Amino acid sequence: MNNFAGDIRYDQAAGLRKMVGKSFESPKPFDKEPEYELQSSEEKIKNTKIITITSGKGGVGKTSMSVNLGLALASQNKKVLLFDADLGLANINVVLGVVPKYNLYHVIKGHKKLKDIIIQTPEGLDIIAGASGYSSLANLSEKERNKIVVEVDQLKEYDYLLIDTGAGVSSNVIGFTLPADEILVITTPEPTSITDAYGIIKSIVLEASDKCIKLLVNRAATSLEGRKVAERVVNISNQFLNVKVENCGFIYDDEMVPKSIRKQKPFYSLYPKSKASSCLNVIAARLMGDKNGFDKKNVGIGAFFRKILKTN
Ligand SMILES: Nc1ncnc2c1ncn2[C@@H]1O[C@H](COP(=O)(O)OP(=O)(O)OP(=O)(O)O)[C@@H](O)[C@H]1O
Ligand SMILES: [Mg+2]
Repeated sequence: MNNFAGDIRYDQAAGLRKMVGKSFESPKPFDKEPEYELQSSEEKIKNTKIITITSGKGGVGKTSMSVNLGLALASQNKKVLLFDADLGLANINVVLGVVPKYNLYHVIKGHKKLKDIIIQTPEGLDIIAGASGYSSLANLSEKERNKIVVEVDQLKEYDYLLIDTGAGVSSNVIGFTLPADEILVITTPEPTSITDAYGIIKSIVLEASDKCIKLLVNRAATSLEGRKVAERVVNISNQFLNVKVENCGFIYDDEMVPKSIRKQKPFYSLYPKSKASSCLNVIAARLMGDKNGFDKKNVGIGAFFRKILKTN
C-alpha cells in the first residue's frame, strides 16, 4: 500500500494548499513545526542521517533537488553537508554558483585537510566535493583510505549528509547508495525516466534487499500526475521486486528552477515562494518528521565513508 492513500499526513497536495493557498503566492513554509524531537548534541554525533539522491535516467533534477532540499533543511536549523559524488559533471557549482577549488582527491593526496575543502555557503549549506567517482574512492591504498577515514570521523556536527550521485546503475552510483540510511530515487513523469527508476531500484534491491528506498517525482505538471507516477513505481516495485518503496512526494515542474540555474543561484533562496520551493518544504518536513531515519540503523558519516572506502 502506498502512503498517500487516505492519509492527510502524506497528502502533499493538501499540505501545499494549506501552506500556500491556491495561488502559491503566500506560502508560509513550516507554519506548523514538523513533529520531530530536537536532539542533544551528543545524540547528534551518532545520528547524522545520510540520504543518497540518485536516479536511473540522467537530467531528472538530482542536483537541483539535492542543493535546494539541503537549503530547505538548513532553513530549519539543520546542519547539512552536501557531498557531490558526481564530480565528473560538477553540477553543484552550476546550481550554487560556487566552484570547489579542492576535492577529496586533495585530501587523499595529503595536500589539504578535509575541513579545508568544505565550502560554507551563505545560505547555511556546507558542500564537499568528491574525488572522481566511487571507483576511484574504492581503489585507494590503505594509507590513503585511512587518511580520509580519520578526517571524516571529525565531521560529527551534521544532522544530514546528502549525497548527490550521477545517474544509472553503474557500480559508481550503487556504491554510494548502499551504506546510506535512505535512498531518494528521483524520477520525472517521462516514461523512460520511470522505467529507469525501476531499473535503479532493482539494482539496489539486488545488492541489498532491506534498504529504505524513497521515491520523489520531480517535474510533475499536477499533483495528480505526481501521485500517479509515484503509485506506478511503488506498485511495480512491490509486485516484481517485493520491495516497499516509500512515496516521498512530488515537485512541480516550475520555470523558476531553470531560471534560477541561469542565475547560478538556488531557487529555494531566490524564489522561496515558488511552487518548487513550497514542495521542497513539504518534502523536508516529511524527511525530518520521519523518525525511522533516526533509529539504530543510522550508519553515521564515519561508517558511511568506511563502507564506500571499503575499510573496516
Ligand atoms: N522541478 C523542475 N522544474 C523545471 N525544471 C527542472 C525541475 N527540476 C529540474 N529541472 C531542470 O532539469 C535540468 C536537469 O536538472 P539537474 O542538473 O538537477 O539534473 P540531474 O539529475 O542532476 O542531472 P545529471 O544526471 O546530469 O546529474 C535542469 O536544467 C533543471 O533546470
Ligand atoms: Mg546532477
